[in-house]
Amino acid sequence: MGEPDFPTPSPVIEAAAAALRRGDTHYADQKGLPELRAALASRLPAHPGRTWTAEDVVVTHGATAALASAVLAMIGPGDRVVIPEPAYSLYADLVALAGGTVDFVPLAPDLHWDLDALAAALPGAAMMMFSNPSNPTGIVHREEELKALGKLLDRSDTLVVSDEAYHRLVYPGHVFTSALEVESLRDRTVYVQTFSKTYAMTGWRVGYLTGPRAVVDAVAHAHRTYNGSLNTAVQHAALAALDLPDRVVDAMVDRYRQRREFVFTHVSGIPGLHLVPPEGAFYGFLRYDADLPSEAVVRELAEREVMVRSGAEYGPSGEGHIRISFAASEEDLRTGLARLVRYFGDERIP
Ligand SMILES: Cc1ncc(COP(=O)(O)O)c(C=O)c1O
Repeated sequence: MGEPDFPTPSPVIEAAAAALRRGDTHYADQKGLPELRAALASRLPAHPGRTWTAEDVVVTHGATAALASAVLAMIGPGDRVVIPEPAYSLYADLVALAGGTVDFVPLAPDLHWDLDALAAALPGAAMMMFSNPSNPTGIVHREEELKALGKLLDRSDTLVVSDEAYHRLVYPGHVFTSALEVESLRDRTVYVQTFSKTYAMTGWRVGYLTGPRAVVDAVAHAHRTYNGSLNTAVQHAALAALDLPDRVVDAMVDRYRQRREFVFTHVSGIPGLHLVPPEGAFYGFLRYDADLPSEAVVRELAEREVMVRSGAEYGPSGEGHIRISFAASEEDLRTGLARLVRYFGDERIP
């Protein structure tokens, strides 16, 4: 799973405990604590000429509820949503839930966007959704790619949902650019963010969203309809997370960087296994040459006590792949990868 194995930093836990003790145990503002929204607004990636205020931010029940609220607020029957795939499977599920139509566009062989295929698919689309850095591929979409997307969407009404949950996890040699920093995208971008991955806070359930004001208002309405206000003490904890010194997150990023090297070195050169080096996030999207559905590979690896996700889960082009998460201890990775390499080498790609 995409579940950091690090503990949540203790100042975050202390802030939640302090909030509970001082009686911050009642409903919060429906859009999120104003002081948290103001702090988030002041830290949003910005393009010159665009500043953000607390009114531009909605605090949500994780990025999951930000994505769900954006799709349920903006998409209905007859709306087409372009999803470059393989992609985080929640996107297509949400579009289906909203009654929209999923238009999967396969990625290029290097797992970056196929801009020609996107040029063909985007006209008339209500929305495009992606994660950057990407789950499950570990790709970081470069500034030129984002600019090219902006150009393709020029003069259209298509909204772009940029899920930047892994923005702090970018490996040497790769540069992360937020969609909000790209002038041609910023006014059509619904920016989704979460505390889950950066701060090892998956169980706290705090995310947030910003975007065009009309979208933010519609999202806030949808979110409060089925979530109500977010847990008050948890929002105080989130404020404390924003105040953590950079070195706390940097130390975790450094460990992910080492694990990424370990995973890449371990599987590269193994006949029949192919891994595009992860550029960001904590996933490797491993292609295998065996003629076996990825669901079956997952089952057989589970019988050997190795847990991976099937590539098919992330879209039709994901078949023939499995997703490895390296948000796991070095020891677990060493054991798991050794078993995985043995499984493929001895049994499936002899
Ligand atoms: C790309 C992406 N977006 C969103 C989420 C969900 O984040 P949250 O825990 O904030 O709901 C995940 C979790 O794996 C993810 O990989």
